[in-house]
Amino acid sequence: MQGRTIDQIISMCNGQKKVGLTVLGIETSCDETAAAVVRRGEDGKGIILSNIVRSQFSEHGRFGGVVPEIAARAHAEILDSLIKAALEEAHVRFRELDGLAATAGPGLIGGLLVGLVTAKAIALVHNLPLVAINHLEGHALTVGLTEALDPPYLLLLVSGGHSEFLSAGGHFRYKKLGSTIDDALGEAFDKVAKMLGLGFPGGPAVERFAEGGDPARFAFPRPLLGREAPDFSFSGLKTAVRRAALAHAPLTTQDVRDLCASFQAAAADTVRDRLKAAFRLYAAGAAPRKFVVAGGVASNKALRAAMLQECEAAGFSFHAPPPGLCTDNAAMIAWAGACRIAAGFRDGLDARARARWPISEIASNEAQAARRRLPAET
Ligand code: KG4
Ligand code: ZN
Repeated sequence: MQGRTIDQIISMCNGQKKVGLTVLGIETSCDETAAAVVRRGEDGKGIILSNIVRSQFSEHGRFGGVVPEIAARAHAEILDSLIKAALEEAHVRFRELDGLAATAGPGLIGGLLVGLVTAKAIALVHNLPLVAINHLEGHALTVGLTEALDPPYLLLLVSGGHSEFLSAGGHFRYKKLGSTIDDALGEAFDKVAKMLGLGFPGGPAVERFAEGGDPARFAFPRPLLGREAPDFSFSGLKTAVRRAALAHAPLTTQDVRDLCASFQAAAADTVRDRLKAAFRLYAAGAAPRKFVVAGGVASNKALRAAMLQECEAAGFSFHAPPPGLCTDNAAMIAWAGACRIAAGFRDGLDARARARWPISEIASNEAQAARRRLPAET
């Protein structure tokens, strides 16, 4: 992978003169408030001019998970100042923008409304195009920003709420190939961290503890191994970790490290096997042998290494955003917005926030909206 660090990408753009599209992105779908300015050159290459993320860990930490009402209020309190800071850092004024992109779903409805209504207000006041972005599409297209890689490719989305294989096609179309039948992978990391008292969010903590642990000490299950369809299941694995933790209580620090390492090894083996199933299904067509992993869990080093190995064995190229752009951020929303604006997409001020919005339904939703608009426009 030839990913660059966020600092490198930001510094590359210092002093560049304005070309292409400059888009302000806003992300408020969960517990991160984020604003970013991204420029998409006429050649389709992207640069990040600013990328500011404020996590709400301290607000939610004592509850052991995200509290929707607290999240929405926190977004509302800081979003304006974050947007101001993102513009200042990018040395861009509202009137120099070419568009606004805000996450419209899926996510927690209160937070989505805060971000989308703010974007609508700015678009209205400054007469700018608005695009309502599907958060998962933001993850899906991030490699285009860092590696200039566009679909088609085989995509694995692994975040706190999603674990799915998709065939990412041209024209913003995504076909689902397989998904989890119970927990998402990020959710399993978070639950394991919670049961071991490692705090929230769990993924980075489990990864840290796994580094000093023995991955072979606990023989945890590898769910759905060998199954033909590229689906996932993580609930049995999570329960097996709980049983082992209870059986060895009180846990020493080394026990916790070994539990984390053994869980992460089981997760990595499962992802390897499910990836092979996805390769078989995807490569049955004539699609190019490119694999992209995206979403918060894609920042996990052990999982990235496992997937890279499987790609090399299967003759697929491996692509992932730099770790700092795998977890939620607004640069990915601005970038998806710039790509959509460049392709001629616009949303009206009636764009809806949607708590549920599967990425595989984006195209059909757009077709429905276009049909609804037809009578008024003719
Ligand atoms: O994409 P994301 O930031 O937010 C959602 O859209 O859900 O993903 C968050 C998820 C959380 O479950 C978090 O624990 C997990 O990604 N995650 C990780 C790592 N960093 C974040 N999981 C495993 N290893 C990591 N290093
Ligand atoms: Zn996300």
